[in-house]
Amino acid sequence: MYKLVARPFLFKFHPEIAHGVIFRTLKTIQAIPGGIALTKIFCGIKQKPVEVFGIKFPNPVGLAAGLDKDADAFDILGAMGFGFVEIGTVTPKAQSGNPKPRSYRLVKNHALINRMGFNNKGVEHMVKMLRKKKTNIIIGGNIGKNKVTSNDNAVTDYLICFEALFPYVDYFVLNVSSPNTPNLRELQDKEPLKHLLLSIQNVNNAKPKSKPVLLKIAPDLSNSQLDDIIEIVNETKIAGLVATNTTISRNNLSYSSSEIDAIGNGGLSGEPLKNRSTEVIKYLFQKSNGTIPIIGVGGIMSVDDAKEKLEAGAKLVQLYNGFIYEGPELIKNIVKNL
Ligand SMILES: Cc1cc2nc3c(=O)[nH]c(=O)nc-3n(C[C@H](O)[C@H](O)[C@H](O)COP(=O)(O)O)c2cc1C
Repeated sequence: MYKLVARPFLFKFHPEIAHGVIFRTLKTIQAIPGGIALTKIFCGIKQKPVEVFGIKFPNPVGLAAGLDKDADAFDILGAMGFGFVEIGTVTPKAQSGNPKPRSYRLVKNHALINRMGFNNKGVEHMVKMLRKKKTNIIIGGNIGKNKVTSNDNAVTDYLICFEALFPYVDYFVLNVSSPNTPNLRELQDKEPLKHLLLSIQNVNNAKPKSKPVLLKIAPDLSNSQLDDIIEIVNETKIAGLVATNTTISRNNLSYSSSEIDAIGNGGLSGEPLKNRSTEVIKYLFQKSNGTIPIIGVGGIMSVDDAKEKLEAGAKLVQLYNGFIYEGPELIKNIVKNL
């Protein structure tokens, strides 16, 4: 139904316009009395609960960060079948992100290149939205830093978002892996990363009940950088990893180099990312002897792709492009066939 009717219509528009159309529709349905309940019936997911880092998820298929950046539609997205929704990346202050156009669909490869740059309405707006939560959907809060904040002061930005969202989200993801905020990925280096994670964990552990904190990493890290990540996860005792964010690589594309160059900078996601993301998950799982819970994300476009991520060692999976290209049916099919 989605692929037959909605997708051909939506794909006539620029990705960001299509996103606006989808979100206005979702928000309208969410606001109508009975809209959430009817969506749940219509989508008809037969849940398969799973417990990971102390949270009981109704099913292991979540929405990846970046689609519901401002927490506008998590209730309705949950009703469509997602077992959890990761909102954000949110920053302390609202920011407009990079100039448009900043996202490009690569239909031949079921992919997308984006350089959004953490456009969002800020953490206070997100709190307002979370206060209106109507369902028991599990929420991950994906947090980052403002573009104007230097890396030296980044910890303060993450702490502001962490404190503001703490009462409202079930788990946290620290995003240090977006390629679209200048120098952000330097926070993945050993010393700054350790400092960031320890600062967050100090505050987290001082709470009456701490919450799972995960780190989202780039697929472009080398094996020795992944070894450092494992060491730091063990040292700081964070709950797990989200692997992976978008890649700066332009491999596995069926477009000419001039077409790709014309798009410019940005992170590539979707099918071309699938194998590298699985490789990273497998490496992390094997090197840590399966001790670190991993949320697997990157190029999951089918039931088999989801199975591949779980077999590589992921405990949960997330969709972004899979949801855009395949629609809500993909969630149902994955859950049904696991
Ligand atoms: C347009 C767009 C915006 C994104 N924004 C974010 C973001 O704000 N924070 C984040 O952690 N990941 C963001 N991502 C990355 C996704 O969460 C996901 O890691 C990536 O797209 C790989 O999954 P996929 O191949 O299923 O799309 C974004 C991806 C896209 C396509």
